[in-house]
Amino acid sequence: MTEKISLLKVEDALSLNRKKVVENYKQFVNPGLTTLLSLVDMDRPFARGEGTRVWDYQGNSFLDCLSGFGSLNFGHNHPAILEAIEKVKGRPSLLQSALSPLAGALGKNLAALLPGDLQNTFFCNSGTEAVEAALKLARIITHKPHVVTTKDSFHGKTMGSLSVTGRVKYLQPFGPLLPEISVVPFGDVSQLEAELAKGNCAAFIVEPIQGEGGINLAPPGYLEEARRLCTEHETLMIVDEVQTGFGRTGYNFAMNEIEGFAPDVVCLGKSLGGGIMPIGAMVTTAYLWNKAYGGIEKCLLHSSTFGGNAWAMAAGIAAVNLLVDEDLAKQAREKGDYLLQALRGIKDKYDLIEDVRGRGLFVGVEFSSSKGILNRITDTIGTKVTHDYLGSLIAGDLYNQHNIIAAYTLNNPNVIRLEPPLTISYEELDYLVASLEKVASPKAGMLGIAAKAGIGKLGSVLKKAGR
Ligand SMILES: Cc1ncc(COP(=O)(O)O)c(C=O)c1O
Repeated sequence: MTEKISLLKVEDALSLNRKKVVENYKQFVNPGLTTLLSLVDMDRPFARGEGTRVWDYQGNSFLDCLSGFGSLNFGHNHPAILEAIEKVKGRPSLLQSALSPLAGALGKNLAALLPGDLQNTFFCNSGTEAVEAALKLARIITHKPHVVTTKDSFHGKTMGSLSVTGRVKYLQPFGPLLPEISVVPFGDVSQLEAELAKGNCAAFIVEPIQGEGGINLAPPGYLEEARRLCTEHETLMIVDEVQTGFGRTGYNFAMNEIEGFAPDVVCLGKSLGGGIMPIGAMVTTAYLWNKAYGGIEKCLLHSSTFGGNAWAMAAGIAAVNLLVDEDLAKQAREKGDYLLQALRGIKDKYDLIEDVRGRGLFVGVEFSSSKGILNRITDTIGTKVTHDYLGSLIAGDLYNQHNIIAAYTLNNPNVIRLEPPLTISYEELDYLVASLEKVASPKAGMLGIAAKAGIGKLGSVLKKAGR
């Protein structure tokens, strides 16, 4: 008789202690990530999430300023999102041979919210899939080979999206990627024009504000001029609002800051799922959609098994309604102004903070990457410390000393991103600023942070890793 395979049940998983969770993650999921999080003591499991906060198994609460990399504009477990999902329980969630009333409704809502003639939506399950869909649309529409992207951009980690992502660290190990990509500096119109003028560009893809690049704002007039150039050179303009969308920057979409502006394609994801369901969406005009996929021969040229499933659509419908009903964009704008002003106040006092920038509640605090600080840590542990670890140490200090969850931006580890749920209170913003001030103060200082965050442990791991 064969032995019964021993499998864990959900309730077993939820009752595992921290040590066991770490062991399972290390052995069966991602050993390197487990080590990285353990180094800065960020490997604890959490039992509850509500609004801006999460609670660990001991009942300690943490303020979440990372928000699932910008997926929690509405906070953790918003009751309106949970209710919407509850309403579709019992309906078929996946039935590709039928038309979903929910997908049609969410498509209509998005068309109503988005600027210009953006109307037809392709639903998928993540931001990177939305970008893939946009790149394929540009190819099928223009039959041109080339795509232009911006330095330090981030568009996802699947092959096509990665090809147009502007950080070498993420690209290099996976080449060859899409061959016909050129990278121009973000905000530089003349280099963009030079690329587009070659006449072989299917698309220009750009974030309205670069997120993972370090919360980089475009110079005034940049997107408008890029729009004009794309039209002139018959190139599709793809705006990636995966992270900046749904109120984050003080507008429903960051591009709404520019009156009358509309791209040919927009990519959405993250908070569209209401902080609960995975979702992505690529929206384009009816003209472009029909040119690409109109008619029964072409309507399934691009598709996704889970795209448009009932639970994700219900969450999306509830999310866009919340956005409008609670005017979350306005809340983000007002709270963002308050936060930026307070952070600029502490920046002037401490050398360690090099810059504070952002829009709405999409805020970056750039810490000094001066060699002096890195060298001091390196001298202490006798091992080279890279910028990536510096960002982790600052995030680790916020977490361990102040119960604040934050992280650095993926393409610029000197920048700590602050993107809390848009429902954050002014008291919580004050606490966040006071905590950052403590991290930046010379008394705590970089070496203080390093010591508290277990730099000794970090040193030995770096040595073992041969860095
Ligand atoms: C601007 C932008 N585009 C695309 C993506 C990829 O989204 P996902 O991680 O859901 O694939 C991200 C993720 O951070 C993003 O910030």
